[in-house]
Amino acid sequence: MDSAAPAAGFFYWVGASTVAYLVLRLSYSLFSALRVWGLGHEAEVGQALGEWAVVTGSTDGIGKSYAEELAKRGMKIVLISRSQEKLKEVANEIMNNVGMSYEYPEYFLDIPDLDNTINKLININIFSVCKMTQLVLPGMLERSKGAILNISSASGVYPVPLLSVYSATKAFVDFFSQCLHVEYRSKGIFVQTVLPFFVATKMAKIRKPTFDKPSSETFVKSAIKTIGLQSRTNGYPVHAIMDWIFSLMPSWLFMKISMSLNKGLRARYLKKTKKT
Ligand SMILES: NC(=O)c1ccc[n+]([C@@H]2O[C@H](COP(=O)([O-])OP(=O)(O)OC[C@H]3O[C@@H](n4cnc5c(N)ncnc54)[C@H](OP(=O)(O)O)[C@@H]3O)[C@@H](O)[C@H]2O)c1
Repeated sequence: MDSAAPAAGFFYWVGASTVAYLVLRLSYSLFSALRVWGLGHEAEVGQALGEWAVVTGSTDGIGKSYAEELAKRGMKIVLISRSQEKLKEVANEIMNNVGMSYEYPEYFLDIPDLDNTINKLININIFSVCKMTQLVLPGMLERSKGAILNISSASGVYPVPLLSVYSATKAFVDFFSQCLHVEYRSKGIFVQTVLPFFVATKMAKIRKPTFDKPSSETFVKSAIKTIGLQSRTNGYPVHAIMDWIFSLMPSWLFMKISMSLNKGLRARYLKKTKKT
């Protein structure tokens, strides 16, 4: 009996500390969620940040919605898409939105026109983000203010089989932005990584928005409010909950689920285009 007492005491304290830790973590998560999504925080964008915003990939989808929301807040917008409008104005805000994914999920070596696709994915998803940042950051530093939003993806957080190159390029965007945020935050620059799950756009090939796959307008109305609050954001409360659930899953389970989902999408695409 005597030797069991210290052991019981030990387990009591381990249990109590674990419960206290979990309660604190949960309270902190709920408090953060309330602060970001619940308290009607107004976006820290608009003319206070500067007169101009540059939005890449701004003729459709998420980029178009960002451009509209920023214009509503009185900013002048430089729109960049394949029409290749030249960036003439000095920008105080830049949205690195443009991105490209696969036509359909595919095994790496079977990606159609593989050479060209690798080049395009790396150029559009990685190279353009770095070069655009190189172009506008010096001006922001001169004025000691500015925000850079880099649109990554949830597939940059969780590796997605059959979208290997896309997923890896989006992970690059996430890491690049996190580093920049730490390097330049003290100099007045806010760098944010946006990590959405599905948004109903042409790229996602989703026409009808749903609760978990919002329209780009709904997504951006929510995401824009996180600027200044979160340097990494899912942008949309339902996506934040999805992210939280996935973060609890062992990675092998996530990979298994996404491989199986993408195999299904691949088979459907190949059947539709009669490639099987
Ligand atoms: N939709 C989703 O479910 C989802 C999820 C996670 C992350 N994302 C990310 O969100 C970003 C926006 O995607 P989205 O779904 O809004 O795409 P989207 O609806 O297909 O729009 C893409 C935009 O980029 C422009 N664009 C495409 N290629 C370009 C190029 N080479 N140079 C310049 N502009 C180009 C397009 O205009 P033009 O055709 O006129 O050039 C269009 O304005 C991407 O970075 C994507 O990876 C999307």
